[in-house]
Amino acid sequence: AGAILARRDTQTPPQSFETALSACRRCPLWENATQAVPGEGPDDAPLMIVGEQPGDMEDLAGRPFVGPAGQLFDKVAARAGLARERAYITNAVKHFKFTPRGKRRLHQAPSAGEIAHCRWWLDLERERVRPRLILAMGATALDSLTGDRRGLLKRRGGIEETADGTPVLITLHPSYLLRLPSETRPQAEALIEADLRRAAELTA
Ligand code: URA
Repeated sequence: AGAILARRDTQTPPQSFETALSACRRCPLWENATQAVPGEGPDDAPLMIVGEQPGDMEDLAGRPFVGPAGQLFDKVAARAGLARERAYITNAVKHFKFTPRGKRRLHQAPSAGEIAHCRWWLDLERERVRPRLILAMGATALDSLTGDRRGLLKRRGGIEETADGTPVLITLHPSYLLRLPSETRPQAEALIEADLRRAAELTA
């Protein structure tokens, strides 16, 4: 990906999305994170998948959805016939937010303000890719894309729209599955699988 953002004068070379993102100071999350994590995938992807924010492993790798939630996503996507490499996969917030706990870094949910500041970057990705469909995974993505995070469980499986008219299919976040007790996890996993299958079919 290498969208030209702005050309201030003829001496300054155009900046790539990644370079501009890596210098982001729009909110304080950059200070403690290792790096900003941009989305990845084809610039002409028919489907955009939006998660919450990079986790511990994504923060270190600089790539989205490579840790436990990403591995679970890959497993369910494979069963649903959704080819991850055909989609553009990104996050509503581009820096990892955490609290240190001994040697571990515990995930913290991004605030409404952080989500709003980071929408700048998601909007640029949406302008570049112009997907036919966006899959919103979880309440943070839903908030960023529709302006309303309430009632995720009731809205899941539905299709809504961004303010500029792109359809948004709503599903649960894969890390929600990781927190469920093993008795209820299969039902929730089946819901996500059905949503991923629908996303794949709608963008085939
Ligand atoms: N969870 C997310 O929402 N995004 C990632 O990239 C990884 C975990």
